[in-house]
Amino acid sequence: MRPKVLVSRKVFDDTLTLLGKHFEVESNQRDVPFTPAQLVKKLQGKSGAIVLLTDMIDDRLLAQCPELKVVCNVAVGYNNVDVKAATRRGVMVCNTPGVLDDTTADFAWTLLLATARRIVESDKFFRTGKWQGWGLMQFTGHDVHRKTLGIIGLGRIGKGVARRAKGFDMRVIYTDVQRADEATEREYGVMYVDKRTLLRESDFVSLHIPLFPETRHYLSDPEFALMKKTAILINASRGPIVDEKALVKALREGKISGAGLDVYEKEPKCERALLAMKNVVLAPHIASASIETRIKMATMAAQNCIAGVSGQRPPNIVNPEVLTR
Ligand code: DGY
Repeated sequence: MRPKVLVSRKVFDDTLTLLGKHFEVESNQRDVPFTPAQLVKKLQGKSGAIVLLTDMIDDRLLAQCPELKVVCNVAVGYNNVDVKAATRRGVMVCNTPGVLDDTTADFAWTLLLATARRIVESDKFFRTGKWQGWGLMQFTGHDVHRKTLGIIGLGRIGKGVARRAKGFDMRVIYTDVQRADEATEREYGVMYVDKRTLLRESDFVSLHIPLFPETRHYLSDPEFALMKKTAILINASRGPIVDEKALVKALREGKISGAGLDVYEKEPKCERALLAMKNVVLAPHIASASIETRIKMATMAAQNCIAGVSGQRPPNIVNPEVLTR
């Protein structure tokens, strides 16, 4: 009998074909997330799971699915998986690092430019027939070139964002838990500063850190109070890194000038007030959504699953300690 795996949401046909060469595959091609109870039921008797960020893999679920060997997230972030619980239960957890860095960095820039130059607002103005002709004061936004970009988290995506800033002659500062080495700083043209300095000096603040308990609400009232009144916040990392209520307050009170967001504290919802703010660009968590990249992510997850279920080390395991227990 071939091992059984579950694909929890819609994926590409090629991904299913690849998985089908190794496993008996059950897949949810309706693309509506399973409820927690449905997910448990579907995962019982399965050796592998291909899951998305919308699937919560917690200790309760793992306890009820003892045959599960490997959980493969089709994402680089894995805050939807209780990795500690998985490790304790001997379940491998895998992600898809590397393949989405440039696509996500492109998108952080898309949000930055769209917010600074008021693209969404002006597009709507045009489409609704309001434009009566050129005007000197119309849709004046913020220049991007030669401004200061503050990158929070100089990982692979943060570096991609920094590299792109060179073309805009920007001063790029960054902060992170660890300072990069001199060669890296030189290569990306970035200068290390502490968090307060970054917030005080940046015209654009772009977030590129993972969500951990210690990064939750990394930006809240005290941080917004430090930022320039003209600053624009870009978030294509994880929603809960920003205290969304504090963000609304900061925007309302003019503590910062705008925000370009791809992620939210309680997806698929956001603070209602954001919906009415013209100085905010809202995207539905699509930073990695190019067709090329999404295919690579799904293929990578399938390869992780094939390796994990067949007893090999998955190429992108995030809890390798399970292999040595
Ligand atoms: C990730 O990979 O973590 C993104 O949020 C979805 O691409």
